[in-house]
Amino acid sequence: MPTITDEWMIGDVKIANRIVVAPMAGISNPAFRGICRSFHPGLVYTEMISDKALYFRNEKTLKMTAMEDNDHPLAMQIFGHDTATMVAAARFLDTQTQCDIIDVNMGCPVNKVIKAKAGSYLMREEAHTVAMMREVVQAVHKPVTVKMRIGFDVEHCNCVTLAQKLESIGVKAIAVHGRTRSQMYEGRADWSYIKKVKEACSIPIIGNGDIRIVHDAQRMLEETHCDAVMIGRGLLGNPWLIAQCSAYLKNETMLPMPTLHERFELVRLHAHRLCEEKGEIVGMREMRGHAAWYVKGLPRSHKLKQALTMITTMAELDQLLSEYECQMADEESFDQV
Ligand SMILES: Cc1cc2nc3c(=O)[nH]c(=O)nc-3n(C[C@H](O)[C@H](O)[C@H](O)COP(=O)(O)O)c2cc1C
Repeated sequence: MPTITDEWMIGDVKIANRIVVAPMAGISNPAFRGICRSFHPGLVYTEMISDKALYFRNEKTLKMTAMEDNDHPLAMQIFGHDTATMVAAARFLDTQTQCDIIDVNMGCPVNKVIKAKAGSYLMREEAHTVAMMREVVQAVHKPVTVKMRIGFDVEHCNCVTLAQKLESIGVKAIAVHGRTRSQMYEGRADWSYIKKVKEACSIPIIGNGDIRIVHDAQRMLEETHCDAVMIGRGLLGNPWLIAQCSAYLKNETMLPMPTLHERFELVRLHAHRLCEEKGEIVGMREMRGHAAWYVKGLPRSHKLKQALTMITTMAELDQLLSEYECQMADEESFDQV
């Protein structure tokens, strides 16, 4: 099994370790990516970006390509179906952004995307998809990667053949989420397909699905021999998992959980960055979900969690967190009497 310190490559892009932050629509903006970066993952993805919206230079979509100077290495993900607009979108990312890798979404299961024959629908049309990807790869200088599911449904698990074809036309790495499109996000991810794709391909394979604790990351690397593990939902409210996985994979060190103060300082920082990026109204609305994830599992946090889902200002957030910290400190000193 590769060790966490082993550097690896996607095309000519160096990746420092085996932990990858998954693309998540509505989540993976520069603020969230910045928070994740502070725990030193090897690679981070953006959320998916519409090829057509990029092609038409939609203002809101162009903002999705913004990135901080230290946001490297970054895979920027596009989704679409038509060769011409996918090539144009890839060219835009290649020449007009500082991203390191161009990733194509072949995993999104939502109806709106499937109706447009994009996302995981592409797995149903191997011939078109491979022909389209050949054009995309040839149109750009940056490495092109793909993120796919194991297939569209249980009768059509074609990830191995599709991955082999994509490798043959120059795709430089593939992330495999161990579910079919029909499963959406339900059931358990089937990692055996990640192993099969790894055995069938020479390019790096990134395993994805259901990594929630450090032992999951280690088990996926051991069971599938994948080159890196990609974590999505496990990082919501718990970006510490990145550093915990790194330390554990390096020398089986278990890093301590963050203290309440550390946790809340990160919540404040995340909120601050979101507000800077989107303004306080939108930023705090987006922060509600994150804040609730950050306090999940804390003792007697039910009321706090409820209050956090309604915050509208940074000051409100700060006050709620401070009150909870005081309450916990009081309880602790009471316990010590
Ligand atoms: C809210 C949310 C948004 C997502 N958006 C994307 C996306 O934009 N592109 C993509 O390839 N996958 C997307 N995914 C899928 C994740 O990248 C990942 O494949 C999936 O959540 C399984 O990994 P996990 O069990 O570690 O969460 C999304 C998942 C979630 C929960």
